[in-house]
Amino acid sequence: MTSQPEFKQGPKPQDSVLAEPRRYLVNIDSISTHQLFTDCLVIGAGIAGFRAAIEAAEHCNVIIVCKDTVKNSNTAKAQGGIASVLNKTDTFESHITDTLNTGCGICDEGIVDSVIRQGPELIEQLLDWGTEFDLIDGHIATTLEGGHSCPRVAHAHGDETGRIITEALIKKVGQNSNIRILENFYAIDLLTNDDNKCIGIVGHDNHRGPQIIWAANTILATGGAGRLYRETTNPEVATGDGIAIAYRAGVVLQDLEFMQFHPTTLYIAGATRALITETLRGEGAVLLDNKGRRFMKEYHEAAELAPRDIVSRAILTQMRKTESTHVYLDVRHFDKAYFAKRFPQINELLESFDIDIGHDLIPVRPSAHYMIGGVKTDSLAKTNIENLYACGEIASTGLHGANRLGSNSLLEGLVFGKIAGKIASQSTKAGAAHLKHPLIKYQIPHSDRTRLDAADVRNSLRALMWRNVGITRKAQLLTETQEIISFWQRYVMDKIFDSPEGWECQNMLTVCLLMAQSAYVRQESRGVHFRRDFPHTDDEHFKKHIEISRRL
Ligand code: FUM
Repeated sequence: MTSQPEFKQGPKPQDSVLAEPRRYLVNIDSISTHQLFTDCLVIGAGIAGFRAAIEAAEHCNVIIVCKDTVKNSNTAKAQGGIASVLNKTDTFESHITDTLNTGCGICDEGIVDSVIRQGPELIEQLLDWGTEFDLIDGHIATTLEGGHSCPRVAHAHGDETGRIITEALIKKVGQNSNIRILENFYAIDLLTNDDNKCIGIVGHDNHRGPQIIWAANTILATGGAGRLYRETTNPEVATGDGIAIAYRAGVVLQDLEFMQFHPTTLYIAGATRALITETLRGEGAVLLDNKGRRFMKEYHEAAELAPRDIVSRAILTQMRKTESTHVYLDVRHFDKAYFAKRFPQINELLESFDIDIGHDLIPVRPSAHYMIGGVKTDSLAKTNIENLYACGEIASTGLHGANRLGSNSLLEGLVFGKIAGKIASQSTKAGAAHLKHPLIKYQIPHSDRTRLDAADVRNSLRALMWRNVGITRKAQLLTETQEIISFWQRYVMDKIFDSPEGWECQNMLTVCLLMAQSAYVRQESRGVHFRRDFPHTDDEHFKKHIEISRRL
């Protein structure tokens, strides 16, 4: 039996497309599986997951699971910083206006207002918890990024903001006896009961094997999905698993067509596609093409500080015009000692490739960076499934609309992490997780099909997404993408894997198909979603979110 995804709005995606047919990716027999119990389960250990756990632990016991170590997340890789109104020349109104303008008409204004007003207090709290933000005269220093009309991006140890925040949060969590962390634990699926309430997860612990964690409340904080693309700033863990497991459980998703591409990623053969922070442009770096021409002014009056979607598309157009694989960032006018202190991570990276910033240009091009869409949540971080919450990059709260203002994401993770932890713990009755649980027995028919090279499928999928569901899209390529992924799904989704590599591959296929379908349905251009066949914004039909859920 297949189950087609249900789109609430717009034209239907390709009829021929098969969707993920299984409720669970693995066989489950709850009686014979090792079991744990918790009041509150947090899946993911970025800023949102940690902040949720800290808040929930005020009232109940918490387990955090993460599929690698707590040091490996999109949060930990963040360079630029965290945006908030932190200096006297700035105002909440200005930050709100910048966020709404960048979001291209579909931000939730109430959410924008509330998140931005909570920022300063929660950032001060991070400082109190030991985050070593860079300071000026005893106050948190701020810098500029594209789309911001005032310097409001706080940073730590220069461009190591994410790592420094992560370290402070790990320390804070480590001091709390109500919180237990399970690293190298892969969450395979959310468990739901007959009333469709979330009751925990089935997962895989690297040391102990299959496990069930029964949880009174579960918070999804699994982060991003940049690894669905061949070119990305994201770490290997960012494969979009949370979106796939939510989809299989019947959670409503929205705006999966909105993948944000960061304009400047280091482009050197053999190097990881490392982020070259936008704050460099905020502090005066300019973009040049391969003829040495500064081109951004031809595309937008704010030049290098235009919103990200505009800079990414301008770079792509300029690359085509000049028949080049990349453009350049020019930082030759920076003082070398200042650069090394302000951008230590990038400085070290460039030195390792013998790039002398005093003489050499930095080769860059755009790559997949931030998943704006995801699990639809309300102002209390609730999903449509009872006892299930979401926060951070996996959540679609309405803050970013169709385009995210740089450095608003750590802010969102912090604010909604706190909300999710608070609401989840308040609705937990002490000891609720230990109440009687249903027997869960789920058996997948045996497949005789050939063995599979999951790594090869993943690589092909990432290349396909980069080619066809990238910075610009059009119907024919989106249709082709759906057909190719559906074909791959036929022989990947019937398998039962016993390790994260296989489950990740299955999840990636699911999420990529949903993204291609959503991108096909949105027949207009808005924010980060640019359709070559529909290059204009169509407010009459598409000033709204595109929701998808699995028909149960
Ligand atoms: O350019 C950057 O440092 C990225 C910031 C962000 O994605 O928020």
